[in-house]
Amino acid sequence: MWLQSIMAWSVQNLWCYLSLLLLFTSIHGNTENKIEALNEVNSDFAFRLYKSIASGAQSQNVFFSPLSVSTALAALSLGAGGETHRQLLSGLGFNSSVITSEEMHQAFLDLLQNFNQRTGVDLNVGTALYVNETFKPHPEFLENLKRFYLSEGFAVDFKKTTETSDQINKYVSEKTHGKISKFIEKLDPHTIMYLLSYIYFKGKWSIPFNPRMTRKDEFHVDKETTVPVQMMYLRDDFYIYSDLELSVSVIRLNYNDSFSMILALPLNNITLLEEALHPHHINKWQKLMSERMCGIFLPKLSLKTSYSLKSILSEMGFIDMFTAKADFSGISDENLLVSEAVHKATLDVDEAGTTAIAVTGIGFVGFSGRIFEVLKFDRPFMFFIVDQKTKNVLFMGKIVNPANSEVHQ
Ligand SMILES: *[C@@H]1O[C@H](CO)[C@@H](O)[C@H](O)[C@H]1NC(C)=O
Ligand SMILES: *[C@@H]1O[C@H](CO)[C@@H](O)[C@H](O)[C@H]1NC(C)=O
Ligand SMILES: *[C@@H]1O[C@H](CO)[C@@H](O)[C@H](O)[C@H]1NC(C)=O
Ligand SMILES: *[C@@H]1O[C@H](CO)[C@@H](O)[C@H](O)[C@H]1NC(C)=O
Repeated sequence: MWLQSIMAWSVQNLWCYLSLLLLFTSIHGNTENKIEALNEVNSDFAFRLYKSIASGAQSQNVFFSPLSVSTALAALSLGAGGETHRQLLSGLGFNSSVITSEEMHQAFLDLLQNFNQRTGVDLNVGTALYVNETFKPHPEFLENLKRFYLSEGFAVDFKKTTETSDQINKYVSEKTHGKISKFIEKLDPHTIMYLLSYIYFKGKWSIPFNPRMTRKDEFHVDKETTVPVQMMYLRDDFYIYSDLELSVSVIRLNYNDSFSMILALPLNNITLLEEALHPHHINKWQKLMSERMCGIFLPKLSLKTSYSLKSILSEMGFIDMFTAKADFSGISDENLLVSEAVHKATLDVDEAGTTAIAVTGIGFVGFSGRIFEVLKFDRPFMFFIVDQKTKNVLFMGKIVNPANSEVHQ
């Protein structure tokens, strides 16, 4: 009996996130108040998600786009009802007595449009929905997905697993400029619907590193282990700050426009920083930073991560959507549940630009008679790619070992 009732649920909604990161530049756009209202909620979600991901893998590199994940979950909430809907909104951090669902969707739309209009940077965000040919979602769900989350929709036959995964992978590859070419590795033929959320960011440093200064150097993974890295070097005026409370040195590297990478280098142990870190620290650092001559050593980075978010999100309170209790009555009268949530991201940091980061140590070095600080990201560090304009964290992560270029979790 039990098995039969489970089988009745076998219609599945396979759902997925995607995010990709690269670097380039940026321009200015107009920031709306509504977008800024999203900031607090999104940053809080970003840090909770970071803790949930990092706790499962203390000694691994971490890299993901909280914005891509929250966009996918907010889009999914369009089709959710009852307790599933409540869990989605509260898991994202929205308080329904402060902001209505309608206002939340509108704020996401404003944010996505703002990002897509920032012509100075290579930044693309959006969502896509693949629906099995035999499945007819409520038109209102499809309309709202298109209206608020700029979604493209496609009808496919998920039973033809090879053909359909090729089609989805081709779409993802186009949206990520070839950086994520095999998003789906194995497609479940029972899939009925697949929701994708992607973000592509390519930023050029406003002050590039000189490739002739890049040298082979060592990165100290821990007390016993070092790995070789290509260490870039640049000396210029940077915004920096020393946070004594967290024992961390912070530096901001700007891309063109108002996008930046904030790098946090713990003086000794990254655990303290990770445990204490709260969104208000980023705001505090930004406020207290001052411009000073500084030398920065930063390793070139190339990182691919892949996360199965099902257990991570369940831990964060998104429970029902993965079970037979799921209520997606806004999508269809058929019973649906989310069978999978996947997030992939890539990061490339080099002399011209990027995303990624590092931590530093502070030393004092004499140079041409001038004294300036040096931050050397030669041991585990954290980083954040943020938009100064909308105050959103597009990507965040931790580099523990630059030699480990692939993370599957
Ligand atoms: C939602 O906001 C209201 C009004 O500010 C507050 O009283 C309530 O405690 C909040 N609920 C949650 C779950 O934070
Ligand atoms: C998906 O559509 C195909 C026909 O295009 C159908 O044969 C298949 O049973 C459908 N899959 C599901 C899970 O309903
Ligand atoms: C980036 O900014 C620099 C200096 O502000 C400018 O010279 C360059 O054209 C910009 N690049 C892009 C792609 O906007
Ligand atoms: C970091 O410090 C904490 C407590 O201060 C300690 O428990 C932990 O073992 C340290 N980790 C490393 C990698 O040294």
